[in-house]
Amino acid sequence: MKKKSIIVVGASRGIGKEMVLQLAENATHTIYALSRNLEKMQENFASLENVHCFAFDLAKNDVREQAELIFSHIDTIDILINNAGKLVNKPFLELNKEDLSDCYQVNAIGVMQTVQAALPKMKVAHIVNISTIGGFQGSVKFPGLTAYSTSKAAVVSFTELFAEEYKDTSIKMNCLCLGAAQTEMLEEAFPGYQAPVSASKMAKYIVDFALTADQWMNGKVIPVSLSTP
Ligand SMILES: NC(=O)c1ccc[n+]([C@@H]2O[C@H](COP(=O)([O-])OP(=O)(O)OC[C@H]3O[C@@H](n4cnc5c(N)ncnc54)[C@H](OP(=O)(O)O)[C@@H]3O)[C@@H](O)[C@H]2O)c1
Repeated sequence: MKKKSIIVVGASRGIGKEMVLQLAENATHTIYALSRNLEKMQENFASLENVHCFAFDLAKNDVREQAELIFSHIDTIDILINNAGKLVNKPFLELNKEDLSDCYQVNAIGVMQTVQAALPKMKVAHIVNISTIGGFQGSVKFPGLTAYSTSKAAVVSFTELFAEEYKDTSIKMNCLCLGAAQTEMLEEAFPGYQAPVSASKMAKYIVDFALTADQWMNGKVIPVSLSTP
């Protein structure tokens, strides 16, 4: 397999951290790990020479500029995995403007701004957006997740729109709508709930998908979940 330059956004813990660890096993890959918690990433990946860590905050107003600065250190981007996520679990009537706008900024607007910054560095590339099964039409829904799941549904729509606009290029975008995986985010939102899939197992699926699926699909939204429906 050709050596690849891979960005993982949301890499300090959970599924993103596991993805970086798995991707780094192939020494020909260079992985750029982005998250707010730079110290934690540097600690997680200290022994991995092919991982470079950058502080990055999707909640800020200057996401495109932050990303452009980070990407200026990189010649070509082959894979971008937009994995970061913000979850708010609150009854609908208790959601304030900040809850809504923070979820939309981190989960949707920030993702689009990161892609805007990455495009000038992409020739043949695969962008993978990580959404949730709750943002997939007709899927199982959970009370309290309006801010989170609607903002993640925006990324589903973005995936289809981007693929249409860039269909004559070699830049492909797909979206995975994940079911429950055992991570800190899940434990914080639903204390005590036991997910049927570990963070590392979910990461393996995403890593394999990111490395290969652009050969067969573009603009596709795929549920990756053991739940029914
Ligand atoms: N776990 C599940 O059951 C589940 C189910 C469906 C979908 N998902 C989705 O899968 C993805 C990974 O989930 P996870 O469970 O592994 O979550 P997690 O444990 O909370 O990890 C999320 C990652 O995103 C980063 N992040 C959060 N806010 C950020 C911001 N403002 N700027 C930059 N990075 C930020 C976090 O790092 P810092 O705090 O260092 O910034 C962290 O590395 C998310 O998009 C989530 O919505 C998860």
